[in-house]
Amino acid sequence: MTSKDDNRYSSSCRLAHISLDRDRLASDLKGVESMERSASYGYFQYGERWSSIMLANHSGDARDGISKIYDGSALATEQMKLVPYLWEVTRDVFECRYLKSMRIFDALNGGILPHRDYWDLEVKPGASHQPKRFNRIHLAIQTNSNCLNSEEDRVYHINLGDIVYLDGSRTHACIAYGNQSRLHVIWDFDPTIQMEKLFKAKGLCKPEKLAYITRRAMAKSEMELLLSSGMLLSNVSLQVVLQSFAAIHFVREVSAGACYDWLVKVAQMVDKADLVAEAREIRHRYLGDTNESFTHIARHQSHG
Ligand SMILES: [Fe+2]
Repeated sequence: MTSKDDNRYSSSCRLAHISLDRDRLASDLKGVESMERSASYGYFQYGERWSSIMLANHSGDARDGISKIYDGSALATEQMKLVPYLWEVTRDVFECRYLKSMRIFDALNGGILPHRDYWDLEVKPGASHQPKRFNRIHLAIQTNSNCLNSEEDRVYHINLGDIVYLDGSRTHACIAYGNQSRLHVIWDFDPTIQMEKLFKAKGLCKPEKLAYITRRAMAKSEMELLLSSGMLLSNVSLQVVLQSFAAIHFVREVSAGACYDWLVKVAQMVDKADLVAEAREIRHRYLGDTNESFTHIARHQSHG
């Protein structure tokens, strides 16, 4: 049985927790500060900073910022020398022969727009969602309570030292606010290998549900305010409006993908064909070929 056949991994989950050595981690984090950032995948991000740092990939060259499918195991880049502790943790915890890439995602006062990974891959008949390209695993190495991830209609925080499997084929997003960057290590592993077999440390992988954050239902008056604010939508404000819509699901009980439905809706209200077309094109760029409506998931209060 491969991990994609195992329904424990049909959505994101917490795999394990490790105790990080604070002093050795602090030394590595100093090294991270001076590392070259990649602008790859920049079209997903908004806010002050979101960047990735390549530590291991197919070529061993940190300038290759795209995570890709290939035969064989990841090669450490020059930058890995600056994070000897994180590389040691990686080799202690995982079977690195299955490793395809290792990166650090650096997010500060901003986030990643809701999107689905891998949507351009073929969907098998009868499959409920896209096939996985990787087994993507996060480890939080610097974070605070204002750093949140989302998956469809759920929101969660990854604690320092938590190892979390993230199912990129489901709509997901992140947001991070604070005085310091939120830093996660991201490992991409061969998706054909069963999750437990990725772990060298036997018994460490114990999948369990993430602790979801409770949010308030969206009041009817809030929804009306949101849609009326969109009346100011124009070609120059479209991205900013989308970003503000995208942040709402972190504080209200709505699905991550709802921001695109709202964007199309307000473009229709403004009644400009080019705006409607652009809003639909943006929705497709981030979510792929889906006609699914996300707004039906929003549970509105009837008053307030
Ligand atoms: Fe993603």
